[in-house]
Amino acid sequence: MEFKEPMQKQAVIIGGGPSGTLMALLLHQAGLDVIVLERQSRSYVLSRIRAGVLEWNTVQLLRKSGVGKRMDKLGHVHTGTFLSSSNKQFRIDFKDLVNTQVMVYGQTEVTADLYDKLELENIEVLHNVKDIKISDLQDRVSSVVFKNSKGENITIKTDFVIGCDGFHGVSRNYIPANVLKVYEKIYPFGWLGILSETPPVSSELIYASHQRGFALASMRNKMLSRYYIQVSNDDHIKNWSDKDFWNELKLRLPTEAADNIVTGSSIEKSIAPLRSYVAEPMKWGNLFLVGDAAHIVPPTGAKGLNLAFSDVNYLSKAIIEFYSKKNNQLINNYSEKALSRVWKGIRFSWWMTTLMHNFPQQSEFERKIQVSELDYLSNSSSAQKTFAENYVGLPY
Ligand code: FAD
Ligand code: PHB
Repeated sequence: MEFKEPMQKQAVIIGGGPSGTLMALLLHQAGLDVIVLERQSRSYVLSRIRAGVLEWNTVQLLRKSGVGKRMDKLGHVHTGTFLSSSNKQFRIDFKDLVNTQVMVYGQTEVTADLYDKLELENIEVLHNVKDIKISDLQDRVSSVVFKNSKGENITIKTDFVIGCDGFHGVSRNYIPANVLKVYEKIYPFGWLGILSETPPVSSELIYASHQRGFALASMRNKMLSRYYIQVSNDDHIKNWSDKDFWNELKLRLPTEAADNIVTGSSIEKSIAPLRSYVAEPMKWGNLFLVGDAAHIVPPTGAKGLNLAFSDVNYLSKAIIEFYSKKNNQLINNYSEKALSRVWKGIRFSWWMTTLMHNFPQQSEFERKIQVSELDYLSNSSSAQKTFAENYVGLPY
């Protein structure tokens, strides 16, 4: 029988979503030998429709890693956003209030750009891997064992195991139960989203609070719109024809938008549940958690992907410093540093979700408080500044 020597890598990255691929790229560019292990096929990963808004930190990080060209050409800079309360719409001007902006550019495109770049730089990504098992996380060298797409058992010896495998991944489970602390809040509603090849109703996003439930008008480009409506947790896409969706959306958006909306067939329709979730710590021995593997936010503040990339920023710098300066201070501080920013994103997403959604069994008092807070936000430049500072992304 042939005996295969274990592979050696400085870092094994589990998960080839946006955080895994950006992490691989940044480490590779610093001269490290890395590999990405992804459970799904490449075409599956590249077809997922998810986030749409990039913080300016994210934009700069992508540019720095050499994956900003298409984003700068096809993305749209937004200097503000609209919010509405019943029928009253107002604008929050990021540029004016905090002198920065966001980029509207879909996660699907970001992922495609990252995969193209990884291919160009010959960074190894193994797709359709199965049964990943991690061991020796408290030793100097750890092991990752898995089955490749041909069903062969492969072992990799590595200094760092980086869990970028999302909420349903395996890596978080390797932090012992008596060490791992989980904080979770499940919201009693989800978002029904559609993508349609129609011109967006507004030049900027509209986050709409309405007695019938929340709605969001977003976009990908001039001929691709993304719309969401709040639905209950037990709802199902089969209950929503395109016609029903457009009718409900129009009832929740401010009249001017509702009157001008161009409807069409949906090319994607899905329901996402809303939750806030944090797993602490984000480091255990040689295992480091990044992005959705450690935390989930409701999409209301557009923070999920952006928080994943801020983890990548901290951890890539820490690992690069570990090799270049023989200094492990940053890697030892990674969990604390990342979590301090994560919790601020968790707080903002929770606040915006609580402000904008209709809660079942909500009392009239609670609805009045929401309306009053939105009224305050529409009139107070200090409240708007706080909103803008959080929405465009706190500094790294
Ligand atoms: P993921 O994108 O989840 O990537 C993890 C990768 O790991 C996947 O490719 C997965 O296949 C792989 N993987 C999982 N398990 C294993 C395993 N055992 N072995 C190997 N590989 C594995 N954020 C927003 O800001 N706005 C939105 O509108 C929005 N919509 C969303 C809709 C949905 C349905 C979901 C799930 C998320 C949404 N998010 C949104 C959040 C945002 O998309 C995530 O925060 C972002 O994808 C996080 O990136 P990640 O790389 O950390 O995780
Ligand atoms: C999106 O376009 O998918 C999107 C935009 C902003 C959000 C959430 C989702 O807050």
